[in-house]
Amino acid sequence: MLPSVKSFQRSVEKFRQVFGTDPEIVTFAPGRVNLIGEHTDYNEGFVLPIAVDRYLCVAARMRDDKIVKIVAADLNDSDEFSLDNFDRDPQSNWRNYPRGVAWTIQQNGIELKGMDAVVASDIPIGAGLSSSAAIEVGFALTFLHFAEVDVPRPTLAQWCQLAEHKFAGVQCGIMDQMIALLGKENHALLLDCRDLSHQLVPLPKGIAFVVADTGVPRTLAASEYNIRRQQCEEAVQWLSKLVGKSVKSLRDVTVEDLGTVFHEMPEPIRRRARHVVTENNRVLAFQRAMRELALKRAGSLLLASHASLRDDYEVSCLELDAMVKVLMSIDGVYGARLTGAGFGGACLAVVREDAIERVLEETPKKYKAALGNSSPEPTLFAVRSSDGATVQRLTD
Ligand code: GLA
Repeated sequence: MLPSVKSFQRSVEKFRQVFGTDPEIVTFAPGRVNLIGEHTDYNEGFVLPIAVDRYLCVAARMRDDKIVKIVAADLNDSDEFSLDNFDRDPQSNWRNYPRGVAWTIQQNGIELKGMDAVVASDIPIGAGLSSSAAIEVGFALTFLHFAEVDVPRPTLAQWCQLAEHKFAGVQCGIMDQMIALLGKENHALLLDCRDLSHQLVPLPKGIAFVVADTGVPRTLAASEYNIRRQQCEEAVQWLSKLVGKSVKSLRDVTVEDLGTVFHEMPEPIRRRARHVVTENNRVLAFQRAMRELALKRAGSLLLASHASLRDDYEVSCLELDAMVKVLMSIDGVYGARLTGAGFGGACLAVVREDAIERVLEETPKKYKAALGNSSPEPTLFAVRSSDGATVQRLTD
């Protein structure tokens, strides 16, 4: 159990208050930070995320009927539906995640039990730490625990992803759900999104991760994200005609392939493709650099990833660019880049462990000075790598 986790305490207290009894279990689902490999997952490419020590907690008790009652402790909101008859809720965002996973699990022939639940989260919403995968994974494991069914975690990740497609309307890739389920302390997860094969990459000692939220809400994230996905599909169509080999996804294309036909492809499709193809190489180079303790090299790869996301994929913004520049001006920062889907949200910085305090203190001042009066309020915090989601029993 992790009694020091704040969302754990809030979920349990609220559960007692609302339902007048203790929860049976609490499911912990971590947020994630992607070290490198952005917008590659839905192109069957490589990603290298870590799960982080910010958790969403679901405190729950099974019911004898098919009713699901959920209280969102931090949102002052609740939901109630019957597992026999429910749909997406067009009025709400968060309600569609528990509903979505209940739907995909039942679609796979598993009979679910009703439950009373309280959800609380320490993962900031909209910062790019994938609070959405955490809520999917948190509820999926809770439902399965009460149904007494074990599903292999990669399969469960796919079910959660489908829930997000069908119920939340975002055509996300598989990275976030995989890392929330398969993360390991002191390791990053090198994931091949083509076949979901994965390996743990040990993290060097003496480095730390800082999340620097720009304070810019990711308002365009859902719509622009889906547009980028379509553009990648268009790129595949062009490349399968132009390159003399079978191209089913951008994963099948090398930098050399793209170089030979780049000028025959239209804008912005060709730059979208260039980002994905070069980013895949950067993921592999970065994980090698981590294993070889080549931190300067790793840092340069982070910067190259940011430049590619800014110039070729066009998912950065003024504030994310300013944040990267500011972070790089501070002694002890190896590299920085936007992390997650982009269009606002946060940057990740890989820093020397002994530089954390300095980075947390100096960055906000410098960021505000760089952006002047129009500067949004940044939030910075250090994160540690963590294990994937777990279900913990409370009553003996
Ligand atoms: C979001 C999606 C992921 C991934 C990233 C971009 O976080 O949920 O699947 O595509 O954006 O790398």
